[in-house]
Amino acid sequence: MLIKRPDDIPASEITDPELYRQRRRFLQQGVAVAGAALTAGLWLPDSVEAGTRLANVKKSVWRVDEPLTPYRHVTGYNNFYEFGTSKAAPARYAPKTLKPRPWRVTIDGECEKPGRMDIDDLIRPHALEERIYRFRCVEAWSMVIPWVGIPLGAILRRFRPTSKAKYVRFETLLDPEQMPGQRTRLLRWPYVEGLRIDEAMHPLTILAVGLYGEVLPHQNGAPLRLVVPWKYGFKSIKSIVRISFVERMPRTSWNLAAPHEYGFYANVNPHVAHPRWSQRKERRIGEFRRRKTLMFNGYADQVAGLYKGMDLRRYY
Ligand code: MTE
Repeated sequence: MLIKRPDDIPASEITDPELYRQRRRFLQQGVAVAGAALTAGLWLPDSVEAGTRLANVKKSVWRVDEPLTPYRHVTGYNNFYEFGTSKAAPARYAPKTLKPRPWRVTIDGECEKPGRMDIDDLIRPHALEERIYRFRCVEAWSMVIPWVGIPLGAILRRFRPTSKAKYVRFETLLDPEQMPGQRTRLLRWPYVEGLRIDEAMHPLTILAVGLYGEVLPHQNGAPLRLVVPWKYGFKSIKSIVRISFVERMPRTSWNLAAPHEYGFYANVNPHVAHPRWSQRKERRIGEFRRRKTLMFNGYADQVAGLYKGMDLRRYY
C-alpha cells in the first residue's frame, strides 16, 4: 500500500527551533492584513505566482492557539500523488507543469443552477477568510496551517442544491501533461473525494485558495482545494475542477484502492486503528514528542453531532 507508515517519517522532520519565531512573524503580518480586511469580498491577486500575497483577507474566529507549522514544511512535505509518492516530489515537480490559470470549475448534478465557471468568478463574490486549523494526515503526522479560503457551504448554496443532493463529489484535474503521475496506475485518476451534504455545508469546511496569506502553492493543490479539518488529510482533495451534487455516496479514490483501510468518512478517531498502525498518537511536524490524537482532531464540539447514533467503528 502506498501511504507511508508513521515510522517512515525521516528524523530530519523533527524538532524545529524556528517554529516560535515563525509564528510571531506571522501574527505580526496578520495585524497588518487585518487593517486591509474592511473591504472584504474582493479577490484580486495581481498574479497567481506562488508567493503572491492575498489582499483583503479577514481573520476568522476559527483559529487554534497552537504554534504554526513552519511554511517550509507546509509547502515542502506534501502528499500529491499526481506528482509522485515522495514527500518532496510535489514541491519539486508541481510548479514545473501544473498551470493554475486559466482554471474552470464545473458545478453540476442535483442542483437548480449548474454551471461551468472561471475560478475567479467562482471566488469573487466571497470574502476571503484566514483560518488556522489542525491538519491530521492518516499517516499519523499533523500540522497547524493558516489557510485562506471560503466556507464551502456559501459557494454551494449559490447553485441551489435540490433535495436529492445527499452527497457532494469532488474531482481533481485529469491531465497527464500537467500531472505526470497520472501516467502511473498508483490510483484511479482523476483523484475523487466526497462528503455528505451536511458535512459539505458545515461551517468548518472550506475551499482554500491560499495559505500563510499567500496564493496557494502548486504543491498544496493550486488553485483550489478542499480543507475538512476534522477528517484525515486525504479527504482534502487538491486542484479541484468539478463539484457535483449527487444522490448516492460517491466512490472515492482511496476507498477504491484499499476499502478496508480508507473509509468514506475518514473522521480523525484515536479509537479506531488503521489496519497497519495505531491512530492514538501523531507527530506534529516540527515537534519531537508525539502528541495524543484528539477525537475529530479536536473539533468534536463542532462536529460530533453530525454522527450521532452512528457506529464510528463501522463507518470509519
Ligand atoms: N489530492 C489529490 N488530488 N491528490 C493527492 O494525492 N493527497 C491527499 C490530500 N489531497 C492528495 C490530495 C493527502 S493523502 C493528504 S495528507 C493531503 O492532500 C496533503 O495535503 P498537503 O500536501 O497540502 O499537506
